[in-house]
Amino acid sequence: MSRVNSYPIIIQGGMGAGISNWELARAVSRLGQLGVVSGTALDQILVRRLQDGDPGGHMRRGLDRFPFRKMAERIWETYYIPGGKSEKQSYKSLPKHSKDSPRELIELCVVANFVEVTLAREGHDNPVGINYLEKIQIPHLSSLYGAMLAGVEYVLMGAGIPLKIPGVLDRLANHEPASYQLQVTGAQDGDDTTITFVPRDFMDRELPPLLRPDFLAIVASNTLAVTLLKKANGRVDGFIVEGPTAGGHNAPPRGKLQLNEAGEPIYGERDIVDLEKLRQLGLPFWLAGGYGSAEKLREALAEGATGVQVGTAFAFCAESGLREDYKQALVKKAISGKAKVFTDPLASPTSFPFKVAKLEGTVSEREVYAARPRICDLGYLTEAYRTADGTIGYRCAAEPVSVYLSKGGKEENTVDRKCLCNALMSNIRFPQVRGGGGYVEKGMVTSGDDLSEISSFMSSDSSVYNAADVIAILLAPDPALDASDQGLIPCTGNTAFPSHVLQREG
Ligand SMILES: Cc1cc2nc3c(=O)[nH]c(=O)nc-3n(C[C@H](O)[C@H](O)[C@H](O)COP(=O)(O)O)c2cc1C
Repeated sequence: MSRVNSYPIIIQGGMGAGISNWELARAVSRLGQLGVVSGTALDQILVRRLQDGDPGGHMRRGLDRFPFRKMAERIWETYYIPGGKSEKQSYKSLPKHSKDSPRELIELCVVANFVEVTLAREGHDNPVGINYLEKIQIPHLSSLYGAMLAGVEYVLMGAGIPLKIPGVLDRLANHEPASYQLQVTGAQDGDDTTITFVPRDFMDRELPPLLRPDFLAIVASNTLAVTLLKKANGRVDGFIVEGPTAGGHNAPPRGKLQLNEAGEPIYGERDIVDLEKLRQLGLPFWLAGGYGSAEKLREALAEGATGVQVGTAFAFCAESGLREDYKQALVKKAISGKAKVFTDPLASPTSFPFKVAKLEGTVSEREVYAARPRICDLGYLTEAYRTADGTIGYRCAAEPVSVYLSKGGKEENTVDRKCLCNALMSNIRFPQVRGGGGYVEKGMVTSGDDLSEISSFMSSDSSVYNAADVIAILLAPDPALDASDQGLIPCTGNTAFPSHVLQREG
């Protein structure tokens, strides 16, 4: 199945884990722009929501729509706790992902991705997208299949080179078996590094073919865009061009890593994407990283972009999954001009630079980081490596140093590495509780440099704003043009959208 495209002007960027949840994506898509749920760690997020008693009954509603009933019920029966677990009780551990993950975990990925997309699609007919990090490879196939069962219309992927995802989408749309090559450090010819997912092993009845979502690759260089077009095993539908001021992980600077006085990576001329060359590729593209304002949106359109992808502005709005205490504290810092974002070259076990908002009581502070026992129990960012006996092992540079070294990891890789998995779960109100409440995992918020600009979405007497405020402000008429030039027409919600920024045929 395919469809005629009409492309969004604003893409609300995928923000993992659980920051761009179904509520945020639904709010954005309802207004006719593209809401994108984060597909990162949704298995973990679903089971934690269920152990918290499924407030609002949203997970139950999503599970009820899942086509293969028994799979959904197994999950409900295993994880749902009526009224929620006690504050001192730990969340149940899931097995870590591995090339041959247990069926239970694969089912969870299928169902959790289905639920998130289903809920984001509720109450409107507009497209919804899902975002993944290429580096988190193992859950890709089952996650994509779950999202596609729910009718996801866009798949956006960055943090890696997703050459083989387009072909996977083609196969999964027809419920055909799909494979993905796991990157294994030290792998040798003849090693089996292929992950395979067979939809019919999970289906309890035949279904018609699924929509093949559009695939948008997130790139930070012309070379990567060209490589994807030349070498991908299927259709690439467009690009998100993301610069180094964007929140989340950033592409490392080209060439040898150099740091400024504060210890942040220095980006230079070579890191700037040549938009003329990009335009020549003939595909729609969106600009990301500091494009959260009407002026920047107009600038992007003038550059030939279809629109912009915005993260930071949406991360702090009312509908985002970020926990309320962190959200309010950072909004207040932004309003008072005290917000600080540090591009940390070491924090992420992926070794990509990771933007961290400074906030008291979070792992962004040295003492909080130092007080955390190094534990690796979620394992989404592990590196697969070849062990001495030729099997595949998994290590994370943020796990206990002695364990990492025993797996052949280098000591220098462990310095200042942070457990993003646990911190990101804490950011969205699902901190793991250890030792009967003795230790509760602390969060660490990522944000783009635009954090200092978010006060523009609020009135002077409020520290709260909605996704609709962000969209309305981004689409505000150009004060340099009069109304007749802007072709103002009424649109969804109570905002008048200029016609030049409405959806258009691609
Ligand atoms: C809190 C947060 C989490 C993010 N997580 C992801 C992610 O999981 N995957 C991804 O591709 N991009 C991620 N991003 C990047 C956004 O999708 C988007 O491209 C970026 O925020 C745009 O730049 P801006 O922050 O200046 O608006 C994240 C950004 C933020 C602010």
